[in-house]
Amino acid sequence: LDNGLMRTPPMGWLAWERYRCDIDCDNDPKNCISEGLFRDMADRLAEDGWRELGYVYINIDDCWSSMQRDAQGRLQPDPHRFPGGIPKLARYLHDRGLKLGIYGDLGTHTCGGYPGTTLDKIQTDAQTFADWGIDMLKLDGCYSNATEQEQGYPLMSKALNATGRPIGYSCSWPAYQGGLPPRDKRRLTMAVNYTQLGEICNLWRNYGDIQDSWDSVLNIVDWFSTNQDILQPAAGPGRWNDPDMLVIGDFGLSLDQSRSQMALWAIMAAPLFMSNDLRTLNSEARTILQNKAAIAVSQDPMGVQGRRLLKEKFGIEVFWRPLSNSASALVFFSRRSDMPYRYTTSLGELNYTAGTYKVFDVFSEKLLSPLSDSTPFTVSINPSGVVMWHVSPITHLGQAPHARGGE
Ligand code: DGJ
Repeated sequence: LDNGLMRTPPMGWLAWERYRCDIDCDNDPKNCISEGLFRDMADRLAEDGWRELGYVYINIDDCWSSMQRDAQGRLQPDPHRFPGGIPKLARYLHDRGLKLGIYGDLGTHTCGGYPGTTLDKIQTDAQTFADWGIDMLKLDGCYSNATEQEQGYPLMSKALNATGRPIGYSCSWPAYQGGLPPRDKRRLTMAVNYTQLGEICNLWRNYGDIQDSWDSVLNIVDWFSTNQDILQPAAGPGRWNDPDMLVIGDFGLSLDQSRSQMALWAIMAAPLFMSNDLRTLNSEARTILQNKAAIAVSQDPMGVQGRRLLKEKFGIEVFWRPLSNSASALVFFSRRSDMPYRYTTSLGELNYTAGTYKVFDVFSEKLLSPLSDSTPFTVSINPSGVVMWHVSPITHLGQAPHARGGE
């Protein structure tokens, strides 16, 4: 969506995966969906070095609202859990250089059973969010049919634009329509039009919800890679595929698996929304999530989504993403479960043009010796882990005469 927002994949924090629909503030005050939770996370983003790295969104998900709209038909937050109201929370974030995202659902109810946004409520809700100072909307798709979604998602895009407030727009639409374009014309209901999505949404959920497990991460990576010929061209500045939240720092991923999620999300040009407890995050998880070179790959200004280049029979996969200034990122990913695998290849074998390259290892944070396209190298990849490289050309045979000034 060309609204000037999210020219690189948005980064921040989103409540859902870690906090779900925990509304029990009496017994679980620190973790329930309430203004305190969002203020706590905002404090952490602002004070623990996240904001400077680009993590600026704090996003509310389902279960924030009251079960009833107000007398004017507007959504309102649960008064016990958000006694200060949303505008005050938005101000708290804005004062700290952060942005506030909120959640709605195109349908009669949200997935959690709270009031939804039916077609006749789209304008009201867009205006309410704008009045409150909201910076991003995730519009879920429970309890609506394909026809209502086809009308509602574009309508909300127009309504947000009409408020005059810049509001990033995340659409769950494709996830409710199978995530893929129609394979044959008779099944038009399971039809996703990625050209249209790029015109009306800044990002979109294509596939099922992430859970706090390696199985879930793998399942998502598999689906996005299998369908990359459809998905990869759909992404670009202002319009991103969203494989869902980062679960790094929660309970399900090992250290290597956490690096894998970070590396693969950066290669896929995915939004980086953490769903974890920033108050108690351990230093290993923080180091991964705050890795500058991985973030630079994610946030590359050219905004081209990466691809899986190779799927070896012995469980090694190679991912590649082109970056600006002829640089690129490589991820060597192991699906094995035996021992660190020594994988040998060369840049030439990975389609790099002739020349010498500077190689920076993202997670060891070390510059390796310059590598020519024809020189074989070996990387040691841990089980369910990655080796991630940032690669940039030093000389290209074709460019050398220019570089010397055309004698
Ligand atoms: C389904 C979405 O895909 C999730 O991310 C989350 O927003 C839940 N609904 C909330 O009910």
